[in-house]
Amino acid sequence: MKSSGKAERRKKKKKRAPLPVSRSPVYTLGVETSCDETSCAVIKNGTEILSNVVSSSLFRHKKFGGVVPEIASRHSMEQIRCVFHEALEEAKIKASDLDLIAVTQGPGLIGSLFVGVSFAKALAYELEIPLVGVNHMEAHLVSNFFEKPAPKRYVGLLVSGGHTMITFCHHQTIKVLGETIDDAVGEAYDKVAKILGLGYPGGPVIDALSKKGDPRAVLFTRPKLQGRFDTSFSGIKTAVLYLVKDPKTGRPKAHAPSKEDIAASFQHAVIGWLIDKVLDAAEDRGVSDIVVGGGVSANSYLRKKLGWEAGARGYQVWFPPISLSTDNGAMIAKRGYELYKKGIRSTLNMTGDPALTINKGNG
Ligand code: KG4
Ligand code: ZN
Repeated sequence: MKSSGKAERRKKKKKRAPLPVSRSPVYTLGVETSCDETSCAVIKNGTEILSNVVSSSLFRHKKFGGVVPEIASRHSMEQIRCVFHEALEEAKIKASDLDLIAVTQGPGLIGSLFVGVSFAKALAYELEIPLVGVNHMEAHLVSNFFEKPAPKRYVGLLVSGGHTMITFCHHQTIKVLGETIDDAVGEAYDKVAKILGLGYPGGPVIDALSKKGDPRAVLFTRPKLQGRFDTSFSGIKTAVLYLVKDPKTGRPKAHAPSKEDIAASFQHAVIGWLIDKVLDAAEDRGVSDIVVGGGVSANSYLRKKLGWEAGARGYQVWFPPISLSTDNGAMIAKRGYELYKKGIRSTLNMTGDPALTINKGNG
């Protein structure tokens, strides 16, 4: 039987020499599709962002008041190829110039993860270059280290729509000291915004509205937790609900505090709790640096208040640039580059893992 033209071309294709173990990748592609963003980025030598293209499906979820997984994965399927080509174009390189592919392996939405992982695996196979699966939460932390190298030891605060963790990082190895026992802090922002009828996503809206409210108008009870570095945000969400609605009748309350005051008080409470936890962890671990990552790191009150309080105690506080706070491919490329340099590789059997965890620490 005659082989097809395509198969013939593949046979003739010159084999690319594998990257020598001693050589660092020059061009790393980062692929991120863990939730509602589809992003590809090219970074050079692990530090310089040449391109970071993000296509968000947020506008498609707004009317549902939250991310609809099926819509998010379909959006990624539609967008991934053009986002990839745009990233190459902006970086002014060809696909054949790439040395390494890093892709979000998890945690995230299963359908969305599979789009990125399948795309990255096919590309790595075709280009005959190494592939590294990356933990999305670890990548959020390293989004801080494009400008300046990471401190050797630090306490990391990870605050996103799906996770809230306090971590301890030592020589690029990340351990979880504590995490939320229920809702993530970003999720609490989104749910409170929904209760107040402010739309989705809630974080940026509450952040803005809080500037017009009194942060001491409503006093919320701090949750009592067994784990010293654990957090909980589902109670405060319910407390907000019962501020505006009668728990018995479900009807709106006539004399509820204003939305501005509720937003400001909610924000003052959750940010205050997080700051207390992270300062406690920093003191416990004897570090001098506190690094913040995840979508909620864009929050202006967190930036200001943690900056003051930790600064007054002599800590250096790191926040990523706003453009790298929410999900993006550049942070995936950077974490993949770091892991590759440590000798970590993924095989083509690698698959997306919606519940991928960071190693649990000893507290
Ligand atoms: O890290 P991210 O982009 O996606 C996940 O990995 O989950 O985080 C998204 C979350 C959303 O819950 C959103 O409401 C929140 O980050 N967020 C904010 C702000 N900007 C985004 N929360 C508080 N203040 C903000 N300015
Ligand atoms: Zn994220």
